[in-house]
Amino acid sequence: MSKAKVLVTGGAGFIGSHVGECFMGQGFDVRVLDDLSTGFAHNCDPSWELLREDVRDPAAVAAAVAGCEAVVHLAAFTSVPESFECFADCYRVNVLGTYNVLRACADAGVRKLVFASSSAVYAELPDAPKSEADCPDPISPYAVSKLEGEHLLELFGEIHGVASVALRFFNVYGPRQPADSAYAAAVPIFMERGLRGEPLTVYGDGRQTRDFVFVGDVAEAVYEAARSDGTGVFNVGTGTEIQILELADLISELTGRAAEHRFEPLRPGDLRSSTADIGHMRAGLGWSSRRGLQDGLLETLKWYRERLGGPAGS
Ligand SMILES: NC(=O)c1ccc[n+]([C@@H]2O[C@H](COP(=O)([O-])OP(=O)(O)OC[C@H]3O[C@@H](n4cnc5c(N)ncnc54)[C@H](O)[C@@H]3O)[C@@H](O)[C@H]2O)c1
Repeated sequence: MSKAKVLVTGGAGFIGSHVGECFMGQGFDVRVLDDLSTGFAHNCDPSWELLREDVRDPAAVAAAVAGCEAVVHLAAFTSVPESFECFADCYRVNVLGTYNVLRACADAGVRKLVFASSSAVYAELPDAPKSEADCPDPISPYAVSKLEGEHLLELFGEIHGVASVALRFFNVYGPRQPADSAYAAAVPIFMERGLRGEPLTVYGDGRQTRDFVFVGDVAEAVYEAARSDGTGVFNVGTGTEIQILELADLISELTGRAAEHRFEPLRPGDLRSSTADIGHMRAGLGWSSRRGLQDGLLETLKWYRERLGGPAGS
């Protein structure tokens, strides 16, 4: 009997490669559609089928979706600050790409689609944990494109019966997250700079809060969303917030090197506070994160040490 197949768009990227591993561990054949713009072929297990294609190409997406029981759509234009400069590119990849995936899922009768949305869709205020019941108020082109993706999912559910889940990821961190892009996230930058003994760049006053969730836990959330009968929008976070300055200090402590902070102006699109209300996810899909921040950071640090090698990483 042939194994069930999952398509992971963006499967050569940071989160996608962990999602692929999670499905592989559950006995799935894994197919990846990725243009390798920010992902890497070496992030994919050799047993996966890697299609180097673009989500903006409907024929390529339809061919990739064919024969798949479930589709996880992660391929995206992912940088909030860059989305201001490249609004049209961001819109084409994130909105048109998501439309193409939905169209192909409807035509092929895929059982379940899981879409990577983002905590960026939430309004700036209040400081309270962000709940799916709150009215979104995106403040960046990236966030608008993700909210548009959610609306498309809802519409395709109503019109074509596509069963889907949109997961609003909070700040995902873990092994394989690149630290060398201009728009890299706080954890990989702090880890690499911390291990090298370089100053840690903090945007704004560093008092902004974030909800950091470990990538292995996120991959399990995606798997649960694909497996369950549940549909709709769900937060994927831990429900625990930490200030960026506190994160910098914690990473300095874990690397064993006291690092200075270098302050830079806030970047456009950065929210002041961002913590997930996790009640809906727990009740609806039965998922909650398993790793505490310290354990997740230690596992991540191990990977960065191995990657950097040499005296800086020892
Ligand atoms: N990392 C986070 O904290 C976070 C938070 C919220 C939402 N997300 C979302 O999760 C998803 C995965 O993000 P990630 O952090 O793993 O980023 P990533 O850049 O590592 O992964 C994105 C992947 O999509 C591929 N891709 C980009 N444009 C493509 C296109 N036009 N056609 C085909 N493939 C394309 C890239 O090559 C890459 O492999 C994205 O949708 C992102 O918006 C991530």
